Amino acid sequence: MSRLLKVTDIKVDFPIGKAGFFGRQTAYVRAVDGVSFEIQRGETLGLVGESGSGKTTLGRAVLRALEPTSGQIVYEHNDTSVDIMGLDRNGLRAMWRHMQMIFQDPYSSLNPRMTVRDVIGEPLIANKMAKGSALNDRVVDMAQRCGLNVAHLSRFPHAFSGGQRQRIAIARALILHPEFVVCDGAVSALPGRQFALPQPGRDFHGQRLLRVVHSTSAKAAARFCRRRAGPACRPMPARVCRF
Ligand SMILES: Nc1ncnc2c1ncn2[C@@H]1O[C@H](COP(=O)(O)OP(=O)(O)OP(=O)(O)O)[C@@H](O)[C@H]1O
Ligand SMILES: [Mg+2]
Repeated sequence: MSRLLKVTDIKVDFPIGKAGFFGRQTAYVRAVDGVSFEIQRGETLGLVGESGSGKTTLGRAVLRALEPTSGQIVYEHNDTSVDIMGLDRNGLRAMWRHMQMIFQDPYSSLNPRMTVRDVIGEPLIANKMAKGSALNDRVVDMAQRCGLNVAHLSRFPHAFSGGQRQRIAIARALILHPEFVVCDGAVSALPGRQFALPQPGRDFHGQRLLRVVHSTSAKAAARFCRRRAGPACRPMPARVCRF
């Protein structure tokens, strides 16, 4: 197996409280503290940790959907090692065609003013990859694969249940057929059979996944989860473990 992604010593700090004298921000919380891991092609990696331990933050930081404070991220694409931290905005956008995230919170990630058809199809339009009937066909196909039906497409995201919204978010993330998906807690929303998603060591439509799971809900992951005891008042660092 060849390497797909290498993440080295990634750290994410969030500013907290008000900026101090002269507008300088002085207080930070370190949500991710020097995490390193690799993902091989054909492999799903599970990321396990308590609530608040930095799983979502790490997943977003790996895609630079959130700017890491420091660290290296190297992604292998078309036989080239791409330094994700060194990309400018356009370069990053181009890579996001191949690296996508299924967000944990579909309430905030879906635009309430767009129909489901537009939400799912937008990445194809933005990347000029389909239009007209070809666009419609791809949206319908992906919606159905994710357990939605055609009648749902003209409705707005607020008119769906939490699980259905997650399916919408999944369809949107997968419509470009990304090579690599950060899948943050959305596994339970997928209809069982046709989307036998993230089985240990299996892939999903050929995509590779960084799968974020909660230790309480992930039996498979719990077996691999090696926790370190830490001070009770501090969230434990998210553990990275292979399935
Ligand atoms: N925008 C932000 N500003 C300040 N602190 C933040 C921000 N986002 C997250 N945090 C803090 O960073 C830490 C990690 O949050 P994160 O959402 O990554 O946790 P998580 O492991 O995904 O939790 P959960 O299992 O509940 O989804 C938490 O302590 C959280 O309060
Ligand atoms: Mg989270």
